[in-house]
Amino acid sequence: MYPTFDLKGKIAVVTGASMGIGYGLAKALAHAGATVIAAARNLPALRQLCADIQQEGGTAFAVSLDVTNVPHIHAVMEQIAKEHGRIDILVNNAGLGANHPAVEVTEADWDTMMDVNLKGLFFCCQAAGKIMLKQGFGRIINMSSQASVVGIVDHAVYCTSKGGVNQLTRVLALEWASRGITVNAVGPTFTYTPGTAERLDDPAYLQGVLDRIPAKKVAEIKDVAGAVIYLASPAGDMVNGTILLVDGGWTAQ
Ligand SMILES: NC(=O)c1ccc[n+]([C@@H]2O[C@H](COP(=O)([O-])OP(=O)(O)OC[C@H]3O[C@@H](n4cnc5c(N)ncnc54)[C@H](OP(=O)(O)O)[C@@H]3O)[C@@H](O)[C@H]2O)c1
Repeated sequence: MYPTFDLKGKIAVVTGASMGIGYGLAKALAHAGATVIAAARNLPALRQLCADIQQEGGTAFAVSLDVTNVPHIHAVMEQIAKEHGRIDILVNNAGLGANHPAVEVTEADWDTMMDVNLKGLFFCCQAAGKIMLKQGFGRIINMSSQASVVGIVDHAVYCTSKGGVNQLTRVLALEWASRGITVNAVGPTFTYTPGTAERLDDPAYLQGVLDRIPAKKVAEIKDVAGAVIYLASPAGDMVNGTILLVDGGWTAQ
């Protein structure tokens, strides 16, 4: 009768867990009871994360994963399922952000961001999705952005990649809904992380951001984690194909 946010017994994979939002999401999922598989390229940082989680009484394992290597994605997801018996939750958090006026975007800029933010995310969904379809249960949460639904100057490639994440989320939700799987996305506003520090540490840039956020503050990682845990937990069972914006009202304007 009452909603539950408990993730005890769940196996949760978090990509891009070595720093920033992913690091905090991994800790929050472990705090909610999940066994966390923390994936990224920087293994020492992941090991530090696992130690942090263990110190807080949780359980976590580090796995090396480059989401631009599709055969590697499949091998890693299969190995996780073999070692841990299943994959219940996948949080596709790995992502890149960069500012370029559209006229300065190079082919390499385009390919680098699309390979991580969109192509890599899709193949992580596919690889974990195959396992979830077999087990008849899964919760996929894709890290989108407020920039998926509104344009942001100098973010042509980023906005395009995140708009693609939203569409992918809807299509996969429809394809897998009858098989016990939900696929949703979370769209934060600016959140202070290593990926945004350079921009948010510039007082003029920060003021420009705050002027656009009705709540008059940037997001904290715990705000993003609240949305992810909701979508991963039994409380979110009937939510599917949605883009949950965590933006202090930016996109309501
Ligand atoms: N911070 C914000 O304001 C904000 C707002 C909206 C949405 N988001 C989204 O939230 C997510 C995390 O953002 P963040 O600010 O926390 O980023 P961040 O601090 O730059 O961290 C990015 C993470 O992605 C991982 N990553 C990058 N390339 C990878 C690859 N090829 N394979 C595997 N992992 C890779 C990095 O790990 P390794 O380098 O160890 O591989 C790192 O853990 C992104 O999807 C971003 O678009 C962020």
